[in-house]
Amino acid sequence: MKQLITLAIMGIMAFSLNAQEKTEKKILVAYFSWGGNTREMAKQIQQQTGGDLFEIKAVKPYPSDYNECVNVARKEQQDNARPALADAVKNFAAYDVVFVGYPNWCGTLPQVLFTFLEKYDMSGKIVVPFCTHGSGRWGRSMNDLKKLCPDATILEGLAISGNLVRRSEDDVVKWLQKIEMGKDNK
Ligand SMILES: Cc1cc2nc3c(=O)[nH]c(=O)nc-3n(C[C@H](O)[C@H](O)[C@H](O)COP(=O)(O)O)c2cc1C
Repeated sequence: MKQLITLAIMGIMAFSLNAQEKTEKKILVAYFSWGGNTREMAKQIQQQTGGDLFEIKAVKPYPSDYNECVNVARKEQQDNARPALADAVKNFAAYDVVFVGYPNWCGTLPQVLFTFLEKYDMSGKIVVPFCTHGSGRWGRSMNDLKKLCPDATILEGLAISGNLVRRSEDDVVKWLQKIEMGKDNK
Protein backbone atom coordinates (compact mmCIF):
# COMPACT_ATOMS: atom_id res chain seq x y z
CA MET A 1 0.00 0.00 0.00
CA LYS A 2 2.80 2.36 1.00
CA GLN A 3 4.53 1.60 -2.29
CA LEU A 4 1.34 2.31 -4.20
CA ILE A 5 0.94 5.70 -2.53
CA THR A 6 4.60 6.58 -3.24
CA LEU A 7 4.12 5.62 -6.90
CA ALA A 8 0.95 7.71 -7.12
CA ILE A 9 2.72 10.75 -5.62
CA MET A 10 5.63 10.33 -8.05
CA GLY A 11 3.16 10.15 -10.93
CA ILE A 12 1.41 13.35 -9.86
CA MET A 13 4.79 15.13 -9.51
CA ALA A 14 5.91 14.01 -12.99
CA PHE A 15 2.59 15.17 -14.46
CA SER A 16 2.81 18.62 -12.89
CA LEU A 17 6.45 19.03 -13.96
CA ASN A 18 5.48 18.19 -17.52
CA ALA A 19 2.63 20.67 -17.35
CA GLN A 20 5.05 23.36 -16.14
CA GLU A 21 7.44 22.66 -19.00
CA LYS A 22 4.58 23.13 -21.42
CA THR A 23 3.62 26.49 -19.93
CA GLU A 24 3.22 28.89 -22.80
CA LYS A 25 6.23 30.97 -23.64
CA LYS A 26 5.60 34.64 -24.35
CA ILE A 27 6.69 35.36 -27.92
CA LEU A 28 7.64 38.58 -29.67
CA VAL A 29 8.03 38.70 -33.45
CA ALA A 30 10.16 41.80 -34.11
CA TYR A 31 11.05 42.64 -37.69
CA PHE A 32 12.30 45.35 -39.99
CA SER A 33 11.08 45.47 -43.58
CA TRP A 34 11.63 48.00 -46.35
CA GLY A 35 9.78 46.40 -49.26
CA GLY A 36 7.30 44.10 -47.49
CA ASN A 37 8.91 40.65 -47.89
CA THR A 38 10.14 40.37 -44.32
CA ARG A 39 6.84 41.82 -43.07
CA GLU A 40 5.00 39.03 -44.89
CA MET A 41 7.27 36.40 -43.32
CA ALA A 42 6.83 38.01 -39.89
CA LYS A 43 3.04 37.85 -40.27
CA GLN A 44 3.20 34.16 -41.16
CA ILE A 45 5.30 33.51 -38.03
CA GLN A 46 2.93 35.61 -35.93
CA GLN A 47 -0.07 33.60 -37.16
CA GLN A 48 1.63 30.28 -36.50
CA THR A 49 2.99 31.15 -33.06
CA GLY A 50 0.37 33.56 -31.72
CA GLY A 51 3.18 35.94 -30.70
CA ASP A 52 3.03 39.73 -30.63
CA LEU A 53 4.15 41.56 -33.76
CA PHE A 54 6.50 44.55 -33.51
CA GLU A 55 7.77 46.51 -36.51
CA ILE A 56 11.26 47.93 -36.08
CA LYS A 57 11.26 51.33 -37.76
CA ALA A 58 13.87 54.05 -38.00
CA VAL A 59 12.84 57.58 -37.03
CA LYS A 60 14.15 58.73 -40.41
CA PRO A 61 12.45 56.59 -43.06
CA TYR A 62 14.61 55.03 -45.77
CA PRO A 63 14.18 56.37 -49.34
CA SER A 64 11.49 54.57 -51.32
CA ASP A 65 13.71 54.47 -54.40
CA TYR A 66 15.75 51.24 -54.42
CA ASN A 67 19.09 52.72 -55.55
CA GLU A 68 18.82 55.61 -53.13
CA CYS A 69 18.01 53.18 -50.34
CA VAL A 70 21.06 51.06 -51.19
CA ASN A 71 23.22 54.20 -51.05
CA VAL A 72 21.85 55.16 -47.63
CA ALA A 73 22.28 51.58 -46.36
CA ARG A 74 25.90 51.43 -47.62
CA LYS A 75 26.72 54.78 -46.04
CA GLU A 76 25.18 53.70 -42.71
CA GLN A 77 27.25 50.52 -42.82
CA GLN A 78 30.47 52.41 -43.60
CA ASP A 79 29.75 54.81 -40.72
CA ASN A 80 28.74 51.94 -38.42
CA ALA A 81 25.64 54.05 -37.77
CA ARG A 82 22.94 53.42 -35.19
CA PRO A 83 19.76 54.91 -36.71
CA ALA A 84 17.32 55.95 -33.96
CA LEU A 85 14.26 53.73 -33.45
CA ALA A 86 10.81 55.21 -34.05
CA ASP A 87 8.95 53.03 -31.52
CA ALA A 88 9.61 51.12 -28.32
CA VAL A 89 8.58 47.56 -27.39
CA LYS A 90 6.14 47.57 -24.48
CA ASN A 91 7.19 45.40 -21.55
CA PHE A 92 10.10 43.76 -23.37
CA ALA A 93 11.24 42.00 -20.20
CA ALA A 94 8.10 39.85 -20.23
CA TYR A 95 9.08 38.02 -23.43
CA ASP A 96 10.81 34.62 -23.31
CA VAL A 97 11.27 34.22 -27.07
CA VAL A 98 12.17 36.95 -29.55
CA PHE A 99 11.97 36.25 -33.28
CA VAL A 100 14.23 38.78 -35.01
CA GLY A 101 13.53 39.36 -38.71
CA TYR A 102 15.32 41.46 -41.31
CA PRO A 103 16.22 41.68 -44.98
CA ASN A 104 19.84 40.97 -45.86
CA TRP A 105 21.21 44.46 -46.51
CA CYS A 106 24.70 44.81 -47.98
CA GLY A 107 25.65 41.35 -46.73
CA THR A 108 24.39 41.64 -43.17
CA LEU A 109 21.77 43.14 -40.85
CA PRO A 110 20.46 46.62 -41.65
CA GLN A 111 22.12 49.07 -39.21
CA VAL A 112 18.77 49.74 -37.53
CA LEU A 113 18.89 46.12 -36.31
CA PHE A 114 22.18 46.91 -34.57
CA THR A 115 20.37 49.74 -32.77
CA PHE A 116 17.53 47.40 -31.82
CA LEU A 117 19.72 44.55 -30.58
CA GLU A 118 21.91 46.89 -28.55
CA LYS A 119 18.91 48.61 -26.99
CA TYR A 120 17.02 45.47 -25.96
CA ASP A 121 18.88 43.06 -23.71
CA MET A 122 18.52 39.54 -25.09
CA SER A 123 20.42 37.90 -22.20
CA GLY A 124 18.67 34.72 -21.10
CA LYS A 125 16.11 34.92 -23.91
CA ILE A 126 15.58 32.56 -26.82
CA VAL A 127 16.36 34.43 -30.05
CA VAL A 128 15.10 33.07 -33.36
CA PRO A 129 16.45 34.79 -36.47
CA PHE A 130 14.70 34.93 -39.81
CA CYS A 131 15.65 36.80 -42.93
CA THR A 132 14.69 37.44 -46.54
CA HIS A 133 17.29 38.10 -49.20
CA GLY A 134 18.04 38.66 -52.88
CA SER A 135 20.28 35.57 -53.13
CA GLY A 136 22.88 36.14 -50.43
CA ARG A 137 20.93 34.22 -47.76
CA TRP A 138 22.22 35.17 -44.27
CA GLY A 139 25.42 36.83 -45.52
CA ARG A 140 27.47 37.71 -42.43
CA SER A 141 24.37 38.47 -40.40
CA MET A 142 24.45 35.38 -38.16
CA ASN A 143 27.96 36.26 -36.98
CA ASP A 144 26.90 39.82 -36.27
CA LEU A 145 23.73 38.65 -34.54
CA LYS A 146 25.68 36.29 -32.26
CA LYS A 147 28.00 39.14 -31.25
CA LEU A 148 25.02 41.39 -30.53
CA CYS A 149 23.27 38.75 -28.36
CA PRO A 150 26.14 36.95 -26.60
CA ASP A 151 24.04 35.66 -23.73
CA ALA A 152 20.98 34.55 -25.64
CA THR A 153 20.14 31.05 -26.82
CA ILE A 154 20.01 31.40 -30.58
CA LEU A 155 17.86 28.79 -32.31
CA GLU A 156 18.09 27.61 -35.92
CA GLY A 157 16.71 30.36 -38.16
CA LEU A 158 15.07 30.44 -41.55
CA ALA A 159 16.27 32.43 -44.59
CA ILE A 160 13.90 32.74 -47.55
CA SER A 161 14.47 34.39 -50.90
CA GLY A 162 12.39 37.58 -50.88
CA ASN A 163 10.42 36.74 -54.03
CA LEU A 164 9.43 33.32 -52.65
CA VAL A 165 8.10 34.43 -49.27
CA ARG A 166 4.46 34.44 -50.34
CA ARG A 167 4.77 30.82 -51.53
CA SER A 168 6.81 29.52 -48.60
CA GLU A 169 4.26 29.26 -45.84
CA ASP A 170 4.71 25.46 -45.70
CA ASP A 171 8.45 25.92 -45.11
CA VAL A 172 7.69 28.35 -42.29
CA VAL A 173 5.27 25.89 -40.68
CA LYS A 174 7.77 22.98 -40.94
CA TRP A 175 10.59 25.08 -39.54
CA LEU A 176 8.47 26.26 -36.58
CA GLN A 177 7.51 22.66 -35.82
CA LYS A 178 11.16 21.59 -35.99
CA ILE A 179 12.23 24.21 -33.47
CA GLU A 180 9.13 23.46 -31.38
CA MET A 181 7.59 26.89 -31.76
CA GLY A 182 4.54 25.91 -33.78
CA LYS A 183 1.00 26.06 -32.43
CA ASP A 184 0.99 22.32 -31.62
CA ASN A 185 4.15 22.62 -29.56
CA LYS A 186 2.60 24.91 -26.99
C1 LIG B 1 19.42 48.48 -49.27
C2 LIG B 1 19.32 47.06 -49.75
C3 LIG B 1 20.44 46.23 -49.72
C4 LIG B 1 20.34 44.89 -50.09
N1 LIG B 1 21.46 44.09 -50.02
C5 LIG B 1 21.33 42.77 -50.31
C6 LIG B 1 22.46 41.88 -50.17
O1 LIG B 1 23.56 42.29 -49.83
N2 LIG B 1 22.27 40.57 -50.42
C7 LIG B 1 21.06 40.06 -50.81
O2 LIG B 1 20.95 38.85 -51.02
N3 LIG B 1 19.98 40.87 -50.96
C8 LIG B 1 20.09 42.20 -50.73
N4 LIG B 1 19.00 43.02 -50.85
C9 LIG B 1 17.71 42.44 -51.23
C10 LIG B 1 16.82 42.21 -50.03
O3 LIG B 1 17.48 41.49 -49.01
C11 LIG B 1 15.56 41.41 -50.41
O4 LIG B 1 14.91 41.99 -51.49
C12 LIG B 1 14.62 41.30 -49.21
O5 LIG B 1 13.67 40.28 -49.43
C13 LIG B 1 13.91 42.61 -48.96
O6 LIG B 1 13.11 42.47 -47.82
P1 LIG B 1 11.99 43.56 -47.48
O7 LIG B 1 11.00 43.53 -48.62
O8 LIG B 1 11.39 43.08 -46.21
O9 LIG B 1 12.65 44.88 -47.35
C14 LIG B 1 19.10 44.38 -50.54
C15 LIG B 1 17.98 45.22 -50.60
C16 LIG B 1 18.09 46.56 -50.23
C17 LIG B 1 16.89 47.46 -50.29
